[in-house]
Amino acid sequence: MQYHIVTYGCQMNVHESEKIAGILHNMGYTYTDQRESADIIVFNTCAIREGAEDRAFGNIGALKQLKKQNPNKIIVVCGCMTQQKQVSEKIFKTFPFVDIILGTNNLHLLEKLIKQKITYKKRILEHLESTNVVEGLPCFRTSGKNAWVNIMYGCNNFCTYCIVPYVRGREVSRKKQDILNEIKDIVSTNQYETITLLGQNVNSYGNDDNTQGTFANLLQDICNLEGNFKLTFMTSHPKDLSDDLISVMKENDKIIKEIHLPVQSGSNKILKLMNRKYTVEHYENLIKKLRTSMPNIRITTDIIVGFPGEDEIDFNQTCELVKKIKYDGIFAFMYSKRSGTVAEKMDGQVDEETKNKRVNFLLNLEREIKEQKGK
Ligand code: SAH
Ligand code: SF4
Ligand code: F3S
Repeated sequence: MQYHIVTYGCQMNVHESEKIAGILHNMGYTYTDQRESADIIVFNTCAIREGAEDRAFGNIGALKQLKKQNPNKIIVVCGCMTQQKQVSEKIFKTFPFVDIILGTNNLHLLEKLIKQKITYKKRILEHLESTNVVEGLPCFRTSGKNAWVNIMYGCNNFCTYCIVPYVRGREVSRKKQDILNEIKDIVSTNQYETITLLGQNVNSYGNDDNTQGTFANLLQDICNLEGNFKLTFMTSHPKDLSDDLISVMKENDKIIKEIHLPVQSGSNKILKLMNRKYTVEHYENLIKKLRTSMPNIRITTDIIVGFPGEDEIDFNQTCELVKKIKYDGIFAFMYSKRSGTVAEKMDGQVDEETKNKRVNFLLNLEREIKEQKGK
């Protein structure tokens, strides 16, 4: 028996697919890269931008043929798209050949649902609202020398453009001891060089449970573990990157000197509309502190162009910031309207042509900066 997984979205989803793979391996399935021959096909979806959703819809639609050829094939759709009730209902109605639909919160139920489907031959739509941390799920790691480790789930920030807090729920930190145990197990296999800690906003680790300590404490405790490994983490929110964190990074050789610090915009007006809770000045000050204590630190960022209300002056401010900071990498996105978010209803929505122009301008700027840096 064989399975095939298609993963969209962020590292969180990549790691969740490893957990899905772990569950399927435990049930006796093995991986195949051929969806034609797979007995189970899993689509692990992302909802961050419209494009990601459209692609998933198109690709799920294309499975109809495969199901015709082999009606016993089990098709599962899960992830952030299906954590939204209205979307999972739409998929259930539109694609009668999809057998099991479940949200990110139901992953631990996957084995039970597959068995249920095989026994009763009925389609299943499963939806859980609450985020619950389920420990001890099996995991079949697929990212080479890197091992992903979740430290927290969910997000409390409600940036006005973002769907994540609606699909992933509120912040829940894992217990520090569970994280340390998982890392000890990973290190003891001698198969991994890097450990990447995952969370939508790793800097707020422990805010929901003050018995666990801060993110800086957690990093220090991980560095104190025996063994040869390198440590990195994503994503850091600029509003709560602490001095303690910077000094723990500086002091520990195990921590890779790199940070992904999404700025989103170089305009204070836009940052406020985005509800990012920091100013450009605060952000620049953080970069200064990071570079003062670690002169060769690699800094990367995310930028959204064409957020509602962004005019040429705002966009120029973003370009000026990019020129000043000279990032080591930029992920630039065109703003995408997400249903149910605050920005969806904002005035001043920017047309697609302008967004396109701005994103290309920014990417060219990044290329020029990289060329200059390379000299
Ligand atoms: N939690 C992380 C990032 C999560 S999403 C953080 O806060 O930094 C990854 C990136 O997708 C974001 O940094 C943002 O730049 C982009 N993004 C999120 N929602 C978007 C939307 N509606 N349109 C375009 N880009 C978006
Ligand atoms: Fe989305 Fe903002 Fe949370 Fe990141 S911090 S996941 S951008 S709401
Ligand atoms: Fe996408 Fe969900 Fe990640 S919406 S970016 S897969 S948290």
